[in-house]
Amino acid sequence: MRKRGVYMMLTLCGVATAALTGFLVIFLTGNHGANASEESTVKVELSNGQGEVLGNYGYTAWTDQTFMQFRGIPFAEPPTKDLRFRPPVARSPWTGTLSALNFGQRCPVITNLDGQLSDAELEDCLNLSVYTKNLYGSQPVMFYIYGGGYYNGSAEDHPPNYILEKDVVLVVPQYRVGALGWLSTYTEELPGNAPIADILLALDWVQTHISRFGGDPQKVTIFGQSAGGGVASALLLSPKTGENLFKRAIVQSGSIFASWAINKDPKAQSQQICAKLGCLSCGQQDKLVECLREAKVKDILIATSSESFSPLVGDLQGILPQHPSELVKSYRRQIPLLTGFTQHDGSFVLASYYDAVASKVSNVSSLSVRQFVQGINNLVNDTTGLTDNTLSRLLFKPQILNSHDHNAAVPAYFDLTSTIFMKSPVITLATKIYDQQPLTPVYLYSFEYEGKYTRFGYEFGNAHYPFNGGVHHSNDNIYLFATHPLEGEDTEMAQKMVELWTSFAIDGVPSELSPLTSASGPYNQLNLKLTKGDDLLETLTVAIDDPDNGRLQREDMEF
Ligand SMILES: *[C@@H]1O[C@H](CO)[C@@H](O)[C@H](O)[C@H]1NC(C)=O
Ligand SMILES: *[C@@H]1O[C@H](CO)[C@@H](O)[C@H](O)[C@H]1NC(C)=O
Ligand SMILES: *[C@@H]1O[C@H](CO)[C@@H](O)[C@H](O)[C@H]1NC(C)=O
Ligand SMILES: *[C@@H]1O[C@H](CO)[C@@H](O)[C@H](O)[C@H]1NC(C)=O
Ligand SMILES: *[C@@H]1O[C@H](CO)[C@@H](O)[C@H](O)[C@H]1NC(C)=O
Repeated sequence: MRKRGVYMMLTLCGVATAALTGFLVIFLTGNHGANASEESTVKVELSNGQGEVLGNYGYTAWTDQTFMQFRGIPFAEPPTKDLRFRPPVARSPWTGTLSALNFGQRCPVITNLDGQLSDAELEDCLNLSVYTKNLYGSQPVMFYIYGGGYYNGSAEDHPPNYILEKDVVLVVPQYRVGALGWLSTYTEELPGNAPIADILLALDWVQTHISRFGGDPQKVTIFGQSAGGGVASALLLSPKTGENLFKRAIVQSGSIFASWAINKDPKAQSQQICAKLGCLSCGQQDKLVECLREAKVKDILIATSSESFSPLVGDLQGILPQHPSELVKSYRRQIPLLTGFTQHDGSFVLASYYDAVASKVSNVSSLSVRQFVQGINNLVNDTTGLTDNTLSRLLFKPQILNSHDHNAAVPAYFDLTSTIFMKSPVITLATKIYDQQPLTPVYLYSFEYEGKYTRFGYEFGNAHYPFNGGVHHSNDNIYLFATHPLEGEDTEMAQKMVELWTSFAIDGVPSELSPLTSASGPYNQLNLKLTKGDDLLETLTVAIDDPDNGRLQREDMEF
């Protein structure tokens, strides 16, 4: 991960490890002594003669209600061979009953490749999972777009056992990630933004089929986190998004306005990867395409293990014809928006930056605070130095900036990284959309609950950092998806989060939250007790302003 650089760290955070998730699903559902999930099955006939799918049962986490689950329904043809990199093609109908008892293959990720499978099988990942308690209702639909730094993520990582406590249908589509999704040459063969097209096709699928699962196609809410928030906000702005595909949107911890959300030079990237694959004449379009299409999945993933990917502007599908800052100027949708971030959403960037620095200099404290800060600012491309200068003034006392006292600078590091990578892009999305459509509610939140579990150092541990993670990136999802064995107040917080998210999906109003009444606020602080702040820009200095911010440092450790 270190070699991927900071942008790719987004990934860690969007997802749980498969092993842990698998364990917890068993943990959460396995103590029923019931044989139901093994033996009872349920069939649903899709619309338009598409075919029949076979599902089974799961149980909600708190009240033990039974729900039906259809895991791994294919919505697109495998994007392999000639279809690799291309816009997805709707799955052709099948005869007989297709088993959706198990999750489909996740879209290829270097760490999760099953060596037994052919490339065509590995790339057959455009499956979606549907969870519902009632096949004959007309329930609101929640459509989740996973994060994972644009190079990871799966339906399997998002257990539904909390959200299904409420009367909603949950759909978790898979979309292509990494090079196999995002590479582009700006030509027909690799038109760009294929993963966003995957999501659009899955949304079409919902329009056609969700009534068969007791879902109301007129009441779809999209929600996405981290890289998934980038995709969800891109859908809001894209002229390719059909008017009726969804009626509300939740954008968590990321937006298409972030520097990490847009790929600056995909064309050069595809040529470099072509060369890395050992192909010749990568400058020639036909050779380049041939090379990328014919390469083995595994070789592509190895060749791109240190690359970052993301949506691009100017794709040939017309998904993002201009930069989001242009597209938003003609934004006319009347879609209630709930968007926000965690209180210390950038601490994972600080952690990965710290690792990167520590791998180069044995004593990080030999750098001054100012040098350390400049390195963080260099991760984004502000060629004028405005970010560097303004944030240095705003967040650091001069005597700290010129010292080597990194422990004292920790709260400011938190605010710096959170502002640059998450909060400013989310606030920009919220306020620009509010300015365009002031009569459509925009709810802004800061998730501030500190519970037992954290995604800080999720994959490699966090014991070596001279700071704590705070309310870390992705910690909000701990209370929406059943990935951890919550108890006590943590469960209470999960119940609160589920109530907020589902009430927004059901009524368009997240219970108890206040919408913006100006571009300054108010905003909602999500905690066991909900509170509000008047000025949303105060979220940018929340760590330095926190009287109790000493807890963010690990006193016994030096940088
Ligand atoms: C992708 O996510 C899975 C499941 O959370 C995890 O096991 C794997 O290590 C991740 N891969 C990478 C490259 O981060
Ligand atoms: C599980 O199956 C066994 C054998 O069919 C049956 O005796 C038992 O009652 C079942 N348990 C539940 C909880 O349904
Ligand atoms: C996607 O789901 C379909 C139906 O369950 C299955 O045929 C296909 O193999 C799945 N893809 C993968 C790669 O698991
Ligand atoms: C690291 O650098 C700082 C600042 O120059 C210095 O005070 C400290 O003694 C150094 N630590 C080690 C272990 O060399
Ligand atoms: C920043 O811009 C320079 C010059 O345009 C470019 O070489 C560099 O790759 C960019 N860095 C990032 C992180 O986008």
